[in-house]
Amino acid sequence: MLSLSNKDEKISRRSLRIISQIAYDVSGILLNDKKEDLVFSRLNKRLRENKISNFEEYCDIIQSDAVERSQMVAALTTNVTAFYREKHHFNYLSNIIRNGFINKIKNGEELRIWSAACSSGEEAYSAAMTASEILADLSSAKMKILGTDIDTNMLERSRIGFYDLEEKKSIPLEIFNKFCLEKGKEFTFKKEILETVRFKSLNLIAEWPFESKFHAIFCRNVAIYFDKPTREKLWSRLAERLHVGGEIYIGHSERISNPDLLGLRPVGLNSYKRVK
Ligand SMILES: C[S@@+](CC[C@H](N)C(=O)[O-])C[C@H]1O[C@@H](n2cnc3c(N)ncnc32)[C@H](O)[C@@H]1O
Repeated sequence: MLSLSNKDEKISRRSLRIISQIAYDVSGILLNDKKEDLVFSRLNKRLRENKISNFEEYCDIIQSDAVERSQMVAALTTNVTAFYREKHHFNYLSNIIRNGFINKIKNGEELRIWSAACSSGEEAYSAAMTASEILADLSSAKMKILGTDIDTNMLERSRIGFYDLEEKKSIPLEIFNKFCLEKGKEFTFKKEILETVRFKSLNLIAEWPFESKFHAIFCRNVAIYFDKPTREKLWSRLAERLHVGGEIYIGHSERISNPDLLGLRPVGLNSYKRVK
């Protein structure tokens, strides 16, 4: 009989410290003492699933087992997302394609968009539909949408690309009719969308295994979980990955404090353009 299913069993300060330190080292996510309830409720489930009898034992496991460390981080991350979340960013994306990059794309340049903490994929698919809407008549247009996340469970869902019909209401109807296919209680995307989107595992605070630049980067609602130095380093690395004229979109409660130092200019709500 496990003794962890009720909140009377507090996590010891020591266990909380070990869990917080590992979460920070692995993912940059900052957990303070106030997050005790969140840590307890999210990880207690893993303890029960794996028949681990207490948090001390769990701490021994995460210190030696890299797979459980990433499962722990996955359990601690917040994955809330939606199609066309903060719709203005998709309008800005349309504008830079239509008014900025269209001639380059006509001349063979591949449009590249990065959803840099994509969770279950809605952001990447929304970007793919936005771009396809503009480029649909350009038979020569090439584009690639990259979705990355640290959470491999979310990446798996993104790759499967099936969503509950409940989520249909976030997608403008004419876009849905153009690019989506209903299948029972779910929907997925037509081949032309699925072919443009790729999902890969990537930790934003670690090395990035590619050199390429992007015309637009969505990095929304992840930096809020990082401390200031981690956030600032992230903004600087992302700015370097933007083409001049390209834009970065960040979460509604996030801000880049010194955009000019990074060659960025604020151009709209939580949006910055690379100007040099
Ligand atoms: C709240 S979701 C944001 C989803 C989407 N960008 C949006 O705004 O709707 C935050 C995502 O960040 C991911 N994440 C957290 N730390 C990360 C890291 N160090 N590297 C990459 N992704 C990370 C989580 O797994 C989670 O899926």
